[in-house]
Amino acid sequence: PAPGWSISADVVVVGSGVAGLTAALRCEAAGLTTVVVTKARLDDGSTRWAQGGIAAALGEGDSPEQHQDDTLVAGAGLCDEEAVRILVTEGPDAVRRLIDTGAHFDESEEGGLELTREGGHHRRRIAHAGGDATGAEISRALVEAVRARGLRTIENALVLDLLMDADGRTAGVTLHVMGEGQHDGVGAVHAPAVVLATGGMGQVFSATTNPSVSTGDGVALALRAGAEVSDLEFVQFHPTVLFLGPDAEGQQPLVSEAVRGEGAHLVDADGVRFMAGQHELAELAPRDIVAKGIMRRMQEQDAEHMFLDARHFGAEMWEHRFPTILAACRANGIDPVTEPVPVAPAAHYASGGVRTDSHGRTTVPGLYACGEVACTGVHGANRLASNSLLEGLVYAERIAADIAESHTDNGLHARVPHPVPYPDKPAHPLLAPEARFTIQRIMANGAGVLRSAGSLAGAADQLQRLHTDARDALDENGKTAEPGVDTWEATNLLCVARVLVAAARQREETRGCHWREDRPERDDTTWRRHIVVRLNPDRT
Ligand code: SIN
Repeated sequence: PAPGWSISADVVVVGSGVAGLTAALRCEAAGLTTVVVTKARLDDGSTRWAQGGIAAALGEGDSPEQHQDDTLVAGAGLCDEEAVRILVTEGPDAVRRLIDTGAHFDESEEGGLELTREGGHHRRRIAHAGGDATGAEISRALVEAVRARGLRTIENALVLDLLMDADGRTAGVTLHVMGEGQHDGVGAVHAPAVVLATGGMGQVFSATTNPSVSTGDGVALALRAGAEVSDLEFVQFHPTVLFLGPDAEGQQPLVSEAVRGEGAHLVDADGVRFMAGQHELAELAPRDIVAKGIMRRMQEQDAEHMFLDARHFGAEMWEHRFPTILAACRANGIDPVTEPVPVAPAAHYASGGVRTDSHGRTTVPGLYACGEVACTGVHGANRLASNSLLEGLVYAERIAADIAESHTDNGLHARVPHPVPYPDKPAHPLLAPEARFTIQRIMANGAGVLRSAGSLAGAADQLQRLHTDARDALDENGKTAEPGVDTWEATNLLCVARVLVAAARQREETRGCHWREDRPERDDTTWRRHIVVRLNPDRT
């Protein structure tokens, strides 16, 4: 649709989690006019829900090299070593700058940062806030800083598509805004630099730790714009999500790895610690190994879940160290002080995303990506716990530096035609909102923790049918459903689900968090490589 309003800026940041707000603050500090647009409210993304913390080599005896080693092992042979080196060496200072921005982390009695452990880390290196409310504190501090600096923000702004100039360079984004006064309806922010920081796509599955806004909008936009997307098959399933029944749908309460980091045990219904003996780190093995251990035990015992036993923490420790998790358990009728907590794996994090270089540049000039939407190469086939907030911070800062440099070196802003012509391409076959639930069930059944050629082929067929039906339903105005957040979200979910399933079918091996029942071995001869997808931009 033709936009009803437009504004201009040097940079438009799409998304308002740790990555988006850090990028925006640094761009603004570099003198760039910056607009932040976000689909719901400023603090509604995944960052706010992060529990365990943020990993960085900040403790005595730790070093970036040790953090790098743990990250590479978790990534199962597919990390980009240079991207990881940047993450771990720039990480500690990036965390210190976050503290300078106003985030308060928990401190030990001696006064330094109190650090915990999570899966795959050989050292205590996870800084946390409010016990288990790290993301909420980071989000609070960044939102406050954005407000204090007077950055222009547009909330309730669903990003639609990338605008490009005649040379194939980024020129801004179109947005659908609901109820923001002067910016109501479909409009555009013209800018020579667009930073995608839209978060993940956990809502592509029925049960996920992600909030309802995590619908893969950034990856779908990037695919429609012809950018390269990589590693989508590597969906990380968090091993310990509170089990609320086999039919539970939507966002599920997380039980942080930090609970295991502080000594909780995974046990089966007979009280047996089944991870002991499976890996030298037992319950603190990398996340994919623990998720697989739980799933195997569930299969062996025909059980719907396992248990996390931390009764030995006692009431005081639960209340002080894990108040968020304690409240979530109690709200669901479980008291972790007196009983083991039922847990099962659920979709948690997209290790892949929009492919970038070490400055966050995508393959479309002027389009950047950081945070969960991006694939910088730091996660490989399986992200190391608590590296995601760190990646958002470090790469957002690098993006801001790159934009500031290109801006002064090349006068990019001057080159943006204004107004940019709107792309002349067929309308998207928008899906009806209910399609979201169909997609989630297809994905949970066919492309979940355990996959096979058969399950993936079934999922691919059903997704293709949804797509074909939507295309067939295009009426002569190119309209299949009323444009709105829920129709766009369903449409974006279908787009990313199809690419995810295609990549998972192609990768005929088991590696990291991609687990193929029919191909149980890792195959380094054929598959020590990435699956990179680029759609024809004219396709919808
Ligand atoms: C957790 O607290 O277990 C989640 C940490 C993460 O996903 O990195």
